[in-house]
Amino acid sequence: MKYFNVALIPGDGIGPEVVSEGVKVLKAIEKIDPEISFSFQEFPWGCEYYLKHGKMMEDDGIDQLKGFDAIYLGAVGYPGVPDHISLRELLLQIRKGFDQYVNLRPITLLNPSLTPLKSKTEKDIDFLVIRENSEGEYSGAGDWLYKDKPEEVVLQTGVFSRKGTERIIRYAYAEARRTNRTLTSVSKGNALNYSMVFWDEVFEEVGKEYPDVKTYSYLVDAASLYFVQDPERFEVVVTSNLFGDILTDIGAGITGGLGLATGANVNPEKEYPSMFEPVHGSAPDIAGKGIANPIAAIWSVSQMMDFFGEDGWDEAILSTIKTLLTETNQLTPDLGGKASTKELGDRFVELLQEYMGT
Ligand code: NAD
Ligand code: IPM
Ligand code: MN
Repeated sequence: MKYFNVALIPGDGIGPEVVSEGVKVLKAIEKIDPEISFSFQEFPWGCEYYLKHGKMMEDDGIDQLKGFDAIYLGAVGYPGVPDHISLRELLLQIRKGFDQYVNLRPITLLNPSLTPLKSKTEKDIDFLVIRENSEGEYSGAGDWLYKDKPEEVVLQTGVFSRKGTERIIRYAYAEARRTNRTLTSVSKGNALNYSMVFWDEVFEEVGKEYPDVKTYSYLVDAASLYFVQDPERFEVVVTSNLFGDILTDIGAGITGGLGLATGANVNPEKEYPSMFEPVHGSAPDIAGKGIANPIAAIWSVSQMMDFFGEDGWDEAILSTIKTLLTETNQLTPDLGGKASTKELGDRFVELLQEYMGT
């Protein structure tokens, strides 16, 4: 019997709506495979919690989460609490506090009807973005001098440590080698004359350990163009924290939107729990209406099962999403359907059971 202890942080806006559907899928997995058992503990942290308690999570929140095998998060951030407080004190604190320095964001087209790119199909858009997730432009270092004075100066410092840069690049090379794919580094050495020149140097240096991996190196502006114009160039991509954030929203845009984009925040050494979440935010514009697309959150479950080493579930979940995408009447409005979040989740579970022959 295998037990996995999962911390749930549904968070804000549509976060709780999509996490419920993900939990439904985890419970279905438990039913289908009697060897697997999950226990869940829910944490009520987020913006509502902040408005009551003046903080996004409990003071010892990180300690409370330490013992879990994984964290499953919905979304954080809502009007009423400044984003730079809500996100920094919860989401970014967990990523950093648990050294989840690898952010794995697959950019995979699951159905040709989902891409706005004409004449691109599934074989053209299928790659993995590996985003540095612990430092870089998100270091939080900086200063705000002479506030509200004419000489006001604001500094936002990018931090690229040798350890942090080498480990993410080495992880990406290893992943490219393991899966026999090319590796593309995305940087901006022509303008960011310290951080990105350093990044490019490290990419070359580490590459000497992986002579079998074919590499490319693009500037981030050109890479953004190629994501749209020529996505078949990419197989594995490694990039900095901010560039990865922006590029993966473009990736979502070419594969069906934020309702389908997933990301795993991984501490590869398993010294701390890793965290699984959809790429999207709390979507205040549709929150509470019961129409958010839960597929991204369900795809996160597949990344979680993969991370647990439970072979087969990632393929089962992806195949089931593919089948579901052909049933247009079962989809949420962002995909042109009329189904609710809950209806889509229920149909997904039915299809998963059919796929597994149960
Ligand atoms: P968002 O991702 O919440 O929404 C962008 C657009 O995509 C909206 O039109 C929304 O309706 C749509 N959308 C997003 N997810 C969807 C889904 N599952 N189904 C259907 N439509 C979906 O981004 P935003 O509006 O820029 O940010 C809203 C809040 O979320 C802000 O506070 C922001 O800081 C926060 N945010 C949090 C995370 C996170 O927790 N990981 C990620 C991004 C943004
Ligand atoms: C994401 C989000 C976060 C990020 C925000 C909410 C801090 O946009 O996970 O893509 O920039 O990493
Ligand atoms: Mn983002």
